[in-house]
Amino acid sequence: MINLRIDDTPVQAEPGQTILVAARGVGIRIPTLCQVDALSPVGACRLCLVEIRNWNGRLVPACATPAQEGLDVVAHSEKLTILRRTILELLFAERNHICAFCVSSGHCELQDLATELGMDHVTFPYRFPFLSVDATHPKFGLDHNRCVLCGRCVRACSEVEGAYTWGFSGRGVATLVEADLGDPWGASKTCTACGKCVQACPVGAMFEKGKATAEQVKRPEILAEVTERRPRV
Ligand code: FES
Repeated sequence: MINLRIDDTPVQAEPGQTILVAARGVGIRIPTLCQVDALSPVGACRLCLVEIRNWNGRLVPACATPAQEGLDVVAHSEKLTILRRTILELLFAERNHICAFCVSSGHCELQDLATELGMDHVTFPYRFPFLSVDATHPKFGLDHNRCVLCGRCVRACSEVEGAYTWGFSGRGVATLVEADLGDPWGASKTCTACGKCVQACPVGAMFEKGKATAEQVKRPEILAEVTERRPRV
Protein backbone atom coordinates (compact mmCIF):
# COMPACT_ATOMS: atom_id res chain seq x y z
CA MET A 1 0.00 0.00 0.00
CA ILE A 2 1.03 3.61 -0.59
CA ASN A 3 0.98 5.96 2.39
CA LEU A 4 0.21 9.64 1.89
CA ARG A 5 -1.55 12.49 3.66
CA ILE A 6 -4.57 14.38 2.37
CA ASP A 7 -5.69 17.43 4.34
CA ASP A 8 -3.47 16.17 7.19
CA THR A 9 -5.32 12.83 7.27
CA PRO A 10 -3.18 9.69 6.85
CA VAL A 11 -4.45 7.84 3.77
CA GLN A 12 -3.55 4.49 2.25
CA ALA A 13 -3.92 3.93 -1.48
CA GLU A 14 -3.42 0.95 -3.74
CA PRO A 15 -0.78 1.26 -6.45
CA GLY A 16 -2.31 2.96 -9.49
CA GLN A 17 -5.06 4.71 -7.54
CA THR A 18 -5.37 8.42 -8.10
CA ILE A 19 -5.31 11.05 -5.37
CA LEU A 20 -9.03 11.56 -6.03
CA VAL A 21 -9.89 7.91 -5.41
CA ALA A 22 -7.65 7.78 -2.33
CA ALA A 23 -9.36 10.89 -0.94
CA ARG A 24 -12.81 9.42 -1.53
CA GLY A 25 -11.74 6.31 0.34
CA VAL A 26 -11.46 8.32 3.56
CA GLY A 27 -14.50 10.49 2.89
CA ILE A 28 -12.68 13.57 1.56
CA ARG A 29 -14.69 15.06 -1.30
CA ILE A 30 -12.79 16.89 -4.03
CA PRO A 31 -14.89 18.79 -6.60
CA THR A 32 -14.84 17.28 -10.12
CA LEU A 33 -16.53 17.95 -13.44
CA CYS A 34 -14.79 16.11 -16.28
CA GLN A 35 -14.17 12.98 -14.21
CA VAL A 36 -16.63 10.08 -14.26
CA ASP A 37 -16.02 6.61 -12.86
CA ALA A 38 -15.36 4.08 -15.64
CA LEU A 39 -14.03 6.70 -18.06
CA SER A 40 -10.34 7.48 -18.47
CA PRO A 41 -9.16 10.59 -16.60
CA VAL A 42 -8.21 13.47 -18.87
CA GLY A 43 -7.69 16.38 -16.47
CA ALA A 44 -9.72 18.70 -18.70
CA CYS A 45 -11.63 20.91 -16.27
CA ARG A 46 -8.99 21.40 -13.51
CA LEU A 47 -11.67 21.74 -10.82
CA CYS A 48 -10.06 18.92 -8.86
CA LEU A 49 -6.77 20.80 -8.51
CA VAL A 50 -4.97 19.98 -5.27
CA GLU A 51 -1.74 21.37 -3.87
CA ILE A 52 1.22 19.12 -3.10
CA ARG A 53 3.07 20.65 -0.14
CA ASN A 54 6.25 18.64 -0.64
CA TRP A 55 6.39 19.40 -4.38
CA ASN A 56 6.89 23.11 -3.65
CA GLY A 57 3.14 23.69 -3.57
CA ARG A 58 2.67 22.43 -7.12
CA LEU A 59 -0.95 22.21 -8.30
CA VAL A 60 -1.99 18.93 -9.90
CA PRO A 61 -5.35 17.47 -10.97
CA ALA A 62 -6.35 14.91 -8.33
CA CYS A 63 -8.29 12.87 -10.90
CA ALA A 64 -5.26 12.27 -13.11
CA THR A 65 -2.38 12.12 -10.61
CA PRO A 66 -1.49 8.75 -9.11
CA ALA A 67 -1.11 8.59 -5.34
CA GLN A 68 2.56 8.37 -4.42
CA GLU A 69 4.41 7.44 -1.25
CA GLY A 70 4.87 10.36 1.13
CA LEU A 71 2.75 12.92 -0.75
CA ASP A 72 1.42 15.70 1.47
CA VAL A 73 -1.75 16.83 -0.31
CA VAL A 74 -3.88 19.89 0.41
CA ALA A 75 -7.34 19.29 -1.05
CA HIS A 76 -9.17 22.15 0.64
CA SER A 77 -7.89 25.64 1.39
CA GLU A 78 -9.00 29.19 0.74
CA LYS A 79 -6.55 29.45 -2.15
CA LEU A 80 -7.94 26.28 -3.79
CA THR A 81 -11.52 27.45 -3.33
CA ILE A 82 -10.67 30.76 -5.04
CA LEU A 83 -8.95 28.91 -7.90
CA ARG A 84 -11.88 26.52 -8.35
CA ARG A 85 -14.35 29.38 -8.22
CA THR A 86 -12.36 31.25 -10.87
CA ILE A 87 -12.38 28.19 -13.14
CA LEU A 88 -16.15 27.98 -12.70
CA GLU A 89 -16.57 31.67 -13.50
CA LEU A 90 -14.56 31.21 -16.70
CA LEU A 91 -16.78 28.28 -17.68
CA PHE A 92 -19.92 30.33 -17.07
CA ALA A 93 -18.51 33.31 -18.99
CA GLU A 94 -17.39 31.25 -21.98
CA ARG A 95 -20.80 30.13 -23.30
CA ASN A 96 -24.47 30.84 -22.64
CA HIS A 97 -25.30 29.15 -19.35
CA ILE A 98 -28.69 30.64 -18.59
CA CYS A 99 -29.90 28.31 -15.84
CA ALA A 100 -33.45 29.68 -15.90
CA PHE A 101 -33.85 28.42 -19.48
CA CYS A 102 -31.92 25.18 -19.18
CA VAL A 103 -33.40 21.69 -19.27
CA SER A 104 -30.96 20.57 -16.59
CA SER A 105 -31.61 23.34 -14.08
CA GLY A 106 -31.93 21.75 -10.65
CA HIS A 107 -29.84 18.71 -11.54
CA CYS A 108 -26.79 20.16 -13.24
CA GLU A 109 -23.26 19.46 -12.02
CA LEU A 110 -22.05 22.93 -13.07
CA GLN A 111 -24.88 24.59 -11.15
CA ASP A 112 -24.24 22.36 -8.12
CA LEU A 113 -20.53 23.22 -8.15
CA ALA A 114 -21.31 26.93 -8.28
CA THR A 115 -23.48 26.51 -5.20
CA GLU A 116 -20.91 24.37 -3.41
CA LEU A 117 -18.04 26.78 -4.10
CA GLY A 118 -20.02 29.94 -3.39
CA MET A 119 -19.88 31.29 -6.94
CA ASP A 120 -22.83 33.69 -6.92
CA HIS A 121 -21.70 35.99 -9.75
CA VAL A 122 -19.24 36.10 -12.64
CA THR A 123 -16.47 38.69 -12.55
CA PHE A 124 -15.31 38.10 -16.16
CA PRO A 125 -17.05 39.63 -19.17
CA TYR A 126 -19.50 37.19 -20.75
CA ARG A 127 -18.59 36.19 -24.31
CA PHE A 128 -22.19 35.46 -25.38
CA PRO A 129 -21.08 33.39 -28.41
CA PHE A 130 -23.60 32.63 -31.13
CA LEU A 131 -23.81 28.83 -31.06
CA SER A 132 -26.21 26.38 -32.63
CA VAL A 133 -28.51 23.67 -31.28
CA ASP A 134 -28.47 20.31 -33.06
CA ALA A 135 -32.01 18.95 -32.85
CA THR A 136 -31.70 16.56 -35.81
CA HIS A 137 -31.59 13.35 -33.79
CA PRO A 138 -35.01 11.76 -33.20
CA LYS A 139 -34.35 11.05 -29.50
CA PHE A 140 -31.72 13.51 -28.32
CA GLY A 141 -30.56 17.10 -28.67
CA LEU A 142 -27.23 18.90 -28.40
CA ASP A 143 -27.06 22.54 -27.32
CA HIS A 144 -23.53 23.87 -27.83
CA ASN A 145 -24.43 26.94 -25.76
CA ARG A 146 -24.38 24.80 -22.61
CA CYS A 147 -21.40 22.59 -23.38
CA VAL A 148 -18.41 22.81 -21.00
CA LEU A 149 -16.14 20.69 -23.24
CA CYS A 150 -15.50 18.16 -20.48
CA GLY A 151 -15.40 15.39 -23.08
CA ARG A 152 -17.46 12.99 -20.99
CA CYS A 153 -19.75 12.31 -23.98
CA VAL A 154 -16.77 11.71 -26.26
CA ARG A 155 -15.20 9.22 -23.83
CA ALA A 156 -18.51 7.48 -23.02
CA CYS A 157 -19.13 6.96 -26.73
CA SER A 158 -15.67 5.62 -27.50
CA GLU A 159 -14.67 3.85 -24.27
CA VAL A 160 -18.01 2.31 -23.20
CA GLU A 161 -20.22 2.13 -26.31
CA GLY A 162 -17.35 1.71 -28.77
CA ALA A 163 -19.14 3.75 -31.42
CA TYR A 164 -16.62 6.60 -31.68
CA THR A 165 -19.35 8.93 -32.93
CA TRP A 166 -18.30 11.99 -30.93
CA GLY A 167 -15.13 13.99 -31.25
CA PHE A 168 -13.91 17.56 -30.97
CA SER A 169 -13.55 20.05 -33.80
CA GLY A 170 -11.80 23.43 -33.64
CA ARG A 171 -9.39 24.79 -31.06
CA GLY A 172 -9.66 26.79 -27.84
CA VAL A 173 -12.94 28.66 -27.36
CA ALA A 174 -14.00 27.58 -30.87
CA THR A 175 -13.94 23.91 -29.90
CA LEU A 176 -17.17 22.02 -30.51
CA VAL A 177 -18.33 18.50 -29.80
CA GLU A 178 -19.31 17.03 -33.17
CA ALA A 179 -20.70 13.77 -34.49
CA ASP A 180 -18.96 11.93 -37.32
CA LEU A 181 -16.51 14.75 -38.14
CA GLY A 182 -19.22 17.37 -38.44
CA ASP A 183 -22.40 15.61 -39.57
CA PRO A 184 -25.69 16.59 -37.90
CA TRP A 185 -26.31 14.13 -35.05
CA GLY A 186 -29.44 12.82 -36.75
CA ALA A 187 -27.44 11.97 -39.91
CA SER A 188 -24.72 10.09 -38.03
CA LYS A 189 -23.95 6.67 -39.45
CA THR A 190 -22.12 5.52 -36.33
CA CYS A 191 -24.49 6.64 -33.54
CA THR A 192 -26.30 3.68 -31.97
CA ALA A 193 -28.78 5.96 -30.14
CA CYS A 194 -27.74 4.28 -26.88
CA GLY A 195 -27.89 7.58 -24.98
CA LYS A 196 -24.72 6.98 -22.95
CA CYS A 197 -23.36 10.36 -24.05
CA VAL A 198 -26.51 12.04 -22.77
CA GLN A 199 -26.27 10.27 -19.41
CA ALA A 200 -22.58 11.22 -19.16
CA CYS A 201 -23.19 14.91 -19.88
CA PRO A 202 -22.93 16.87 -16.59
CA VAL A 203 -24.92 19.86 -17.86
CA GLY A 204 -27.83 20.56 -20.19
CA ALA A 205 -25.77 20.37 -23.39
CA MET A 206 -27.04 16.89 -24.24
CA PHE A 207 -30.64 16.15 -23.41
CA GLU A 208 -33.47 13.77 -24.15
CA LYS A 209 -36.28 15.05 -26.31
CA GLY A 210 -39.82 14.95 -24.97
CA LYS A 211 -38.79 15.11 -21.33
CA ALA A 212 -39.64 17.95 -19.00
CA THR A 213 -36.90 19.68 -17.00
CA ALA A 214 -37.79 17.75 -13.85
CA GLU A 215 -37.37 14.46 -15.76
CA GLN A 216 -33.95 15.23 -17.23
CA VAL A 217 -32.01 13.67 -14.40
CA LYS A 218 -28.78 12.19 -15.77
CA ARG A 219 -27.34 8.89 -14.54
CA PRO A 220 -23.60 8.97 -15.33
CA GLU A 221 -23.16 6.04 -12.95
CA ILE A 222 -24.62 3.74 -15.66
CA LEU A 223 -21.21 3.90 -17.35
CA ALA A 224 -19.58 2.13 -14.40
CA GLU A 225 -22.54 -0.24 -14.06
CA VAL A 226 -22.26 -1.29 -17.71
CA THR A 227 -18.47 -1.62 -17.58
CA GLU A 228 -18.42 -3.66 -14.37
CA ARG A 229 -20.85 -6.22 -15.80
CA ARG A 230 -18.71 -6.89 -18.84
CA PRO A 231 -16.75 -10.14 -18.84
CA ARG A 232 -13.03 -9.63 -18.23
CA VAL A 233 -10.62 -11.11 -20.76
S1 FES B 1 -12.15 16.42 -12.58
FE1 FES B 1 -9.99 16.46 -12.53
S2 FES B 1 -9.49 17.82 -14.13
FE2 FES B 1 -11.63 17.66 -14.27
